[in-house]
Amino acid sequence: MSPYSSTLLMSFALLGSSAASTISPQAQRVCADIHSAAPSRLAYAPSSSKASLNSPYLAELYTNTTATYWDAANDADVPACAFFPSCSEDVSAAIIALGKEPGVPFALKSGGHNWNRGFSSTDGGVLISFRPNLQSTTLAPDGLTAKIGPGARWVEVMQELDKSNKCAVGGRSGNVGVGGYVVQGGISYLTSQHVGHRLASRIATAGADILGKGFSCDNVVEYELVTANGTIVDVNNHTHPDIFSALCGGGNAFGVVTTYTFQTHDIGDVWGGGRTYGPEQLDKLNAAIAEFISGNQDPSAAIILDYLFVALTQTSQITVSYFYNGPTPRSDVFANFLAIPYLGADGITTQRYPELLDTNVTSAIGLRTSNVINSLPNMPSEKMCLFLDWHWNNASNAPFVSSRQTNGLELFSMALQPIPVALQRASAAQGHSALSLDPDHGDKIWILYGAGWTKTAGDGVLPQQLKALADDALTYQKDTYKGVKPTNYVSGDLSVVPYNPLFMNDAQYTQDVLKSYGPATYDKLWFLHKLLDPGDFFTSRQNGFFFKTPPGGMTMPRHDRRAT
Ligand SMILES: Cc1cc2nc3c(=O)[nH]c(=O)nc-3n(C[C@H](O)[C@H](O)[C@H](O)COP(=O)(O)OP(=O)(O)OC[C@H]3O[C@@H](n4cnc5c(N)ncnc54)[C@H](O)[C@@H]3O)c2cc1C
Ligand SMILES: *[C@@H]1O[C@H](CO)[C@@H](O)[C@H](O)[C@H]1NC(C)=O
Ligand SMILES: *[C@@H]1O[C@H](CO)[C@@H](O)[C@H](O)[C@H]1NC(C)=O
Ligand SMILES: *[C@@H]1O[C@H](CO)[C@@H](O)[C@H](O)[C@H]1NC(C)=O
Ligand SMILES: *[C@@H]1O[C@H](CO)[C@@H](O)[C@H](O)[C@H]1NC(C)=O
Ligand SMILES: *[C@@H]1O[C@H](CO)[C@@H](O)[C@H](O)[C@H]1NC(C)=O
Repeated sequence: MSPYSSTLLMSFALLGSSAASTISPQAQRVCADIHSAAPSRLAYAPSSSKASLNSPYLAELYTNTTATYWDAANDADVPACAFFPSCSEDVSAAIIALGKEPGVPFALKSGGHNWNRGFSSTDGGVLISFRPNLQSTTLAPDGLTAKIGPGARWVEVMQELDKSNKCAVGGRSGNVGVGGYVVQGGISYLTSQHVGHRLASRIATAGADILGKGFSCDNVVEYELVTANGTIVDVNNHTHPDIFSALCGGGNAFGVVTTYTFQTHDIGDVWGGGRTYGPEQLDKLNAAIAEFISGNQDPSAAIILDYLFVALTQTSQITVSYFYNGPTPRSDVFANFLAIPYLGADGITTQRYPELLDTNVTSAIGLRTSNVINSLPNMPSEKMCLFLDWHWNNASNAPFVSSRQTNGLELFSMALQPIPVALQRASAAQGHSALSLDPDHGDKIWILYGAGWTKTAGDGVLPQQLKALADDALTYQKDTYKGVKPTNYVSGDLSVVPYNPLFMNDAQYTQDVLKSYGPATYDKLWFLHKLLDPGDFFTSRQNGFFFKTPPGGMTMPRHDRRAT
């Protein structure tokens, strides 16, 4: 473990036991500075000596904003003030004010869905919340693009665009925010599908084979970005191709995005929803997903399979979320799945896209959370089934999974996310994502491990135990299936390529996501960051997935801001 992550771990543990919530004079000065520029959009903490300046509306907004996090542990953080910018100039003023006071931390909150403690919350710093003043969706008159504020939730975006039978490539759960989701990549039901207008000419030459939307960020045509010195830049493939690429999967190390311009796509009725299965169907479902990943020929189809252990009832179940971009799927596409008996009501219907995304998953579930991601090869079906059966059996029997008494562990889940070659080809064809996927490396499966608990006692142990479980499975897979080629594999080092990249949206703070993009991309991102942010403003004042080593791979001692 790098010095960075152990420091971070220690400070996480400390924070778990005592939320500091003292407001430093420096933080108070930054808040006052921002307040003077935009008094109607800044709320002081209730404990601040300036709290009497808050209007009742702002006081309520502060309370609502700091209490709606997916990871309930963040709710304990008390920012010195919360700022609700309504334009890029507001954000620029806040960044400049922060720049004048070196010790003051900050956090950016779009949807607040990140499951890492302190990634979009701050204790004693400045919280910049893009809800409610930067959350609009505006379709261009020609219908080809839409401007979307970072604070929007995906269901809101789709509701607006659906009025014109359009959509954007966004989240599978409607309550997730746009801001963090996009700069960290973004997997969508539409990810394997369709084509951007940028690609029209290439498709004419390469054939329909490369039709694809790719990750959410592959579909952004322009970012409005505020950089470390407060400059507002329009970033697109022509003005700043290097920054354009970095913002597609590189995270929050390069600046603050204040507007995303997305290319839009036509959409009509869609087919999909969820079905729940009993644990006795595990083998059949595992076989079905392995075959879907390697064999599905229809990019309109997408699927995600969740194994879930519910501590309250001590039972496990499997949920499959189905999606087809059209009123009914081609009959062969999901045939293996649809033949498997399910429990309870059938959640599948033909509906509008925003209805499908509006799954009643709220913006907060009241649990403390942690997540870890593994990238693994999709192996031929027989091997894959053996491995997945071993994996769920091994994982659901891990001692921490039954720590309801001590840690209040309520949920443990493993989500199997197909990353077929078609998806990788779609992303690669868009040509700029920092994830740097190469379809020649074959089919992958990205497994997202999640834990949700209620007791603070869990904070100090569960994230590490979850990571250890994921590491065990990775080691087991590598040892047991050494040399087994992923399905649809063409080339690449088998000891490296199936296991990378790590998907930032699903990663734990301990994971070295930027490194997983490969040495060439890593070095490019590192130098770009140094150029844009020589004072390490973004990488020392907030949390995120940052550079743990200098270019070339040496370990770099560094201190997390929370420890200083
Ligand atoms: C129920 C649920 C379902 C999910 N489904 C999916 C899915 O289908 N596909 C997928 O890819 N991911 C999914 N995720 C993961 C999700 O994308 C990440 O948690 C993501 O960080 C959430 O974005 P947000 O804006 O809500 O995050 P926030 O918590 O607000 O922010 C997350 C990070 O992004 C940075 N950030 C936020 N706004 C900006 C900005 N304007 N400029 C620069 N940096 C910014 C913050 O600094 C922070 O580090 C899901 C998560 C949950 C809880
Ligand atoms: C705060 O949340 C409550 C409950 O959801 C809502 O009724 C109220 O309008 C919100 N207030 C503000 C200022 O956002
Ligand atoms: C970006 O521009 C370069 C050079 O003009 C071009 O080769 C590339 O395809 C473009 N990428 C995107 C995503 O438009
Ligand atoms: C969501 O909740 C509403 C109101 O409680 C209910 O009518 C609807 O059926 C629910 N939808 C889903 C997908 O569970
Ligand atoms: C899970 O597998 C790992 C690695 O093989 C092993 O060390 C561990 O004991 C297993 N756990 C359970 C509960 O079977
Ligand atoms: C601000 O930073 C940008 C790089 O992001 C640089 O090009 C510009 O010159 C800087 N402006 C000032 C005033 O320092």
